[in-house]
Amino acid sequence: MINLIGKITLKKIVNKLKKNINSKKIRGMNDRVYHLLNPFKKLQLAYEYMMMTKINLYEKMNKEYIDKFFAMKSSIKLNDKQVEILERMDKDGIAFGRVEDFFGEGFFKELQEEYKRLEETNKEKIDSVKNLKATNSKPYLIHLINKLHISDKTKTINKIVLNKMIPSIAAYYLGMIPRFQGIRLILNLDIPQDDGLIGSQQWHRDNGSARFFKAFIYLKDVDEIDGPFEYIKNTHYKGDYWDVLTHSEKLERQGFYIPDKDMSKYDKVLNENKIRCVGKAGDMVFADTSGIHRGGHCSNGGSRQIVMLHYFPYFSYRGIDFSMDKSFDFPDDKFMKKVFGLE
Ligand SMILES: [Fe+2]
Repeated sequence: MINLIGKITLKKIVNKLKKNINSKKIRGMNDRVYHLLNPFKKLQLAYEYMMMTKINLYEKMNKEYIDKFFAMKSSIKLNDKQVEILERMDKDGIAFGRVEDFFGEGFFKELQEEYKRLEETNKEKIDSVKNLKATNSKPYLIHLINKLHISDKTKTINKIVLNKMIPSIAAYYLGMIPRFQGIRLILNLDIPQDDGLIGSQQWHRDNGSARFFKAFIYLKDVDEIDGPFEYIKNTHYKGDYWDVLTHSEKLERQGFYIPDKDMSKYDKVLNENKIRCVGKAGDMVFADTSGIHRGGHCSNGGSRQIVMLHYFPYFSYRGIDFSMDKSFDFPDDKFMKKVFGLE
């Protein structure tokens, strides 16, 4: 009897924990504590190890979603383009595609129009940021969409997140039902050269999970001056160089970012494998950002307009960044309902 009560209570606690893990609150708290510990490097390292232990715990909890993926794998079909992207991702941690391969001809024009509309709505914000001097709080980066509210499936951005093709590749790459974390529409602006690289413009690995699946859509051409995404191939968790500059070397880093002195220790590996993703409007980049990457450093009047889609392992300590109307008529698709945490 006591055993039974114990089991029921434990089950309740585990269910509550599972519910809370994907909340924004938890993620915000983790990041805040980490940054608060910034002056105390050893405590920060201890906290980092605690987070890694938590990631391992999440990995165990993800087992259920690995099983769920394998149970429905035969119903998640990939076409040749998706297979090509998946194979590249497995091998290099990065792959490329075109927007029309996922959303059909004509959609990109609709997306660019949506971007123009959002730019117009945010004109005041954009102008004020343009006039600010860059600091560590990233004023060079403007979120035109950050926390999406899904309420209407005919809206352009909602069409992107409800498309099944990208999460299907994510499922095969992550080997489980992925969790849609959020979508961002970002405008990167030029910053004065002498301010150096800020935030995610510096080399780093994303934290909060052992692996990630992100998809980027370039809304306009990205040339050398427009802050192209840069990636070191093979440094993703499946890659040969996963052990180069991993979390265990955290103490030598500034915050989440890898200082140049550490990067230079691995010059040969890094230079041989560095990819600078210049591209055309409508190009897509897929990346596992557990690999070393950076991006968004515009120069000489350059700018970047980009859509970012994030899919994470089902449980990770990164919270979800979207909401949905209770009355929203979600498409009747078992896989997508799981990806959105609806069943
Ligand atoms: Fe990143």
